[in-house]
Amino acid sequence: MSYNLLKGKRGIIFGALDSKSIAWKVAERAHEEGATFVLTNAPVALRLGTISDLAEKTGSEIIPADATSIMDLEELIDRSVELLGGKLDFVLHSIGMSVNVRRGNPYTHQDYNFTKKGWDVSALSFHRMMSVLYNKDAMNEWGSIIALTYMAAQRVFPDYNDMADNKAYLESVARSFGYFFSRDKKVRVNTISQSPTPTTAGSGVKGFDGFLAYADKMSPLGNATALECADYAISLFSDLTRKVTLQNLYNDGGFSNMGVSTAVMNEFMGENDDAVDADED
Ligand SMILES: NC(=O)c1ccc[n+]([C@@H]2O[C@H](COP(=O)([O-])OP(=O)(O)OC[C@H]3O[C@@H](n4cnc5c(N)ncnc54)[C@H](O)[C@@H]3O)[C@@H](O)[C@H]2O)c1
Repeated sequence: MSYNLLKGKRGIIFGALDSKSIAWKVAERAHEEGATFVLTNAPVALRLGTISDLAEKTGSEIIPADATSIMDLEELIDRSVELLGGKLDFVLHSIGMSVNVRRGNPYTHQDYNFTKKGWDVSALSFHRMMSVLYNKDAMNEWGSIIALTYMAAQRVFPDYNDMADNKAYLESVARSFGYFFSRDKKVRVNTISQSPTPTTAGSGVKGFDGFLAYADKMSPLGNATALECADYAISLFSDLTRKVTLQNLYNDGGFSNMGVSTAVMNEFMGENDDAVDADED
């Protein structure tokens, strides 16, 4: 359903690789809500993914940019403002990659060159992106910037590996840069902490299916899907959330405040969910 929440708004969406990507769903929803935007991704991802289908569907231009290159980001932001016909109202950072995860190096045995690369792509890129937007004064007042994160920034998920540290850094950058952006430009900066979601980046984490099933059983509303994440992002890009800033916002079906659920307890008690529900009735 469309509410015209982003009518007339302009933005940049980083990180749509294929139709499973969270950024892909955000782009589809932003289009439905009346926004115009530029799609961007690393040059290599443009070759591997299917982003041109999304561009066609949403009437968007694609501008390649490696989020580790300040030059690429400067060019992307200049060209986007020019193409879209004015300053930006929203930006989505939906970028994550760990070389240690890809290579199967456990947290205790990292290759630190890989660690630095993953941090540069996944975390420092958020600072870099915001510094270009801020220094070019490329955002409209009451604009909104969002990055995507995961709860491993707060709690231990062993196989999330060095991405946990990258997400902690990313969330800190959202607060620290968010202060300056909010104070000086009246621009919101927030992170959405999303449930495990079956995408290319998500599925790369060891034991991801177990992760997904566990989170689903722990969450009273079940895991949030990529589309549900997109809906939440749209609300944060809209004018309905103008004083929400410097926050890490959980879109996780309640997982982050759970200790244990009956569904998970039952796994240890040898009972099924239905039996307990019947007892409770
Ligand atoms: N999938 C999950 O379970 C989950 C949960 C919470 C948060 N997140 C976060 O959501 C975001 C999006 O991930 P996703 O799950 O949609 O997976 P995805 O693999 O579809 O998206 C990751 C994107 O990062 C891009 N990227 C990698 N290196 C880049 C670079 N140097 N420059 C520019 N872009 C680059 C990739 O090309 C890809 O489009 C990530 O920040 C991820 O950590 C994912």
